[in-house]
Amino acid sequence: MFENSNILVTAWDDDRLVGLSRAMSDLGWVVYVADLLVHEDWQRRGIGAALLEQTHKAAGGEDDITLILVAAPEAMTYYQSLGYDKIAEGWRRSRRKNPLSIGSR
Ligand SMILES: CC(C)(COP(=O)(O)OP(=O)(O)OC[C@H]1O[C@@H](n2cnc3c(N)ncnc32)[C@H](O)[C@@H]1OP(=O)(O)O)[C@@H](O)C(=O)NCCC(=O)NCCS
Repeated sequence: MFENSNILVTAWDDDRLVGLSRAMSDLGWVVYVADLLVHEDWQRRGIGAALLEQTHKAAGGEDDITLILVAAPEAMTYYQSLGYDKIAEGWRRSRRKNPLSIGSR
């Protein structure tokens, strides 16, 4: 997963990995964020927002690139708090293996 994602942004506290964003982008039009996570002891310090900002920047920046992601149910309001627009025009064909694992833990 990491090797095949062209954007990986990580957050560190000294030598400890405390958060990461994993995304794929054509670097011209769109970036799809596949994973965003912050260790629970480091949450609510702006790390998630900073990871998303860096991911967007690495893909080419907010002026040129649209960022798209599928939110985990427990994070639905998070993106709203960051000013993201909720979209209705998304579709999914779930993988057949363990389809219920998508969007849940
Ligand atoms: C969602 C997540 C990435 C947010 O990262 P974070 O570094 O804690 O968030 P930030 O510090 O950038 O933002 C903090 C603000 O966002 C909001 N916020 C944070 N987590 C939230 C959540 N789960 N739901 C709703 N709002 C949330 C709050 O308004 C918070 O501000 P406050 O502390 O003043 O109340 C982190 O909670 C996480 O890793 N959760 C588990 C994995 C997950 O759900 N990932 C998202 C997959 S789509």
